[in-house]
Amino acid sequence: MSENLGTMTDFSPDDSVMLKDVLRGLALPQKNIPSLYFYDQRGSELFDAITELPEYYPTRTEIGILERHGAEMAAALGPGVRLIELGSGSALKTELLLGRLEDPAAYVPVEISREHLLAAAARIAADFPDLEVMPVTADFTEPFDLPEPARRRVERNVAFFPGSTIGNFPRGMAADLLAATCREVGAGGAMLIGVDLVKDRATLERAYNDAAGVTAQFNLNLLVRLNRELGADFDVAAFRHQAVWDEDAARIEMRLVSTRAQRVQVAGRPFEFAAGEVLVTEYSHKYTPAVFRSLAEGAGFRVARTWTDPEGLFSVQLLEVPGAAQDSSGGT
Ligand SMILES: C[S@@+](CC[C@H](N)C(=O)[O-])C[C@H]1O[C@@H](n2cnc3c(N)ncnc32)[C@H](O)[C@@H]1O
Repeated sequence: MSENLGTMTDFSPDDSVMLKDVLRGLALPQKNIPSLYFYDQRGSELFDAITELPEYYPTRTEIGILERHGAEMAAALGPGVRLIELGSGSALKTELLLGRLEDPAAYVPVEISREHLLAAAARIAADFPDLEVMPVTADFTEPFDLPEPARRRVERNVAFFPGSTIGNFPRGMAADLLAATCREVGAGGAMLIGVDLVKDRATLERAYNDAAGVTAQFNLNLLVRLNRELGADFDVAAFRHQAVWDEDAARIEMRLVSTRAQRVQVAGRPFEFAAGEVLVTEYSHKYTPAVFRSLAEGAGFRVARTWTDPEGLFSVQLLEVPGAAQDSSGGT
């Protein structure tokens, strides 16, 4: 293990939280399960496979933006950054940024999928031997303490939030998460965020309904997880994947559709599904630059820069918190 890899700080939610969320979501008139629960180890692996699909434009487009403009981004962020990555996954995009930052103070990947986090943190620590890597397992929508680097002074807290994961949150929750991040990075801090842009229905629906069926496996793996971890009895073969673009809400809605009338038990509680009934498993909101600007400004940020690809499919935005950077620490 590399010397620069710190011990993982564990703020993992209790198992009872997942059960409570699932029971609450299944009891709603529009049944839903928070998309956070996709990411067990298998879910994280399937997500990585999705990012390589020809139909899934977001990852390769965002990587292209980071490759083209990473040096400008690093220059805008400045020296001594504590880079806090929310939902770091396999942290492949991170390398494009870390490699260009001037003398970063620390890298803090924050992720719910524990094994995936550990593997990515170990890889980054080996690739950047001078960098303190301080992994945190947590639900980033809940408050958590930022680890303090031992070796370098933090000049600026920067939250890195690629992958358009912000799109998984309905508008009010996205506003709350941005506002909490604004407070966490503090005066003079910043956020570098990947935001997927509104585009034509065909491109969007293709991206979430790939021909090889990997997204379908990712979606159905949620039921496999609930059966294993919550003792549920979903008949996985009796649900099918569906992803549709809702133009009015500007979001892809990912669903599992019950193919027949059926009763499912979760922790001894029965839930009835009608034939054709929909269980919503993920939203993926898309933004216009103007709508995202108003969301970010409402949360206390100023949009300092926006980088896009030549086709205008995706954006990476630098949000800044007005004011001078605080002394050294910036944790909550
Ligand atoms: C859409 S993927 C993006 C992964 C990676 N950042 C990228 O750009 O490819 C979302 C990632 O965030 C993690 N995640 C989702 N919700 C989370 C939460 N509430 N707290 C911590 N991690 C979360 C998932 O486990 C997953 O790795």
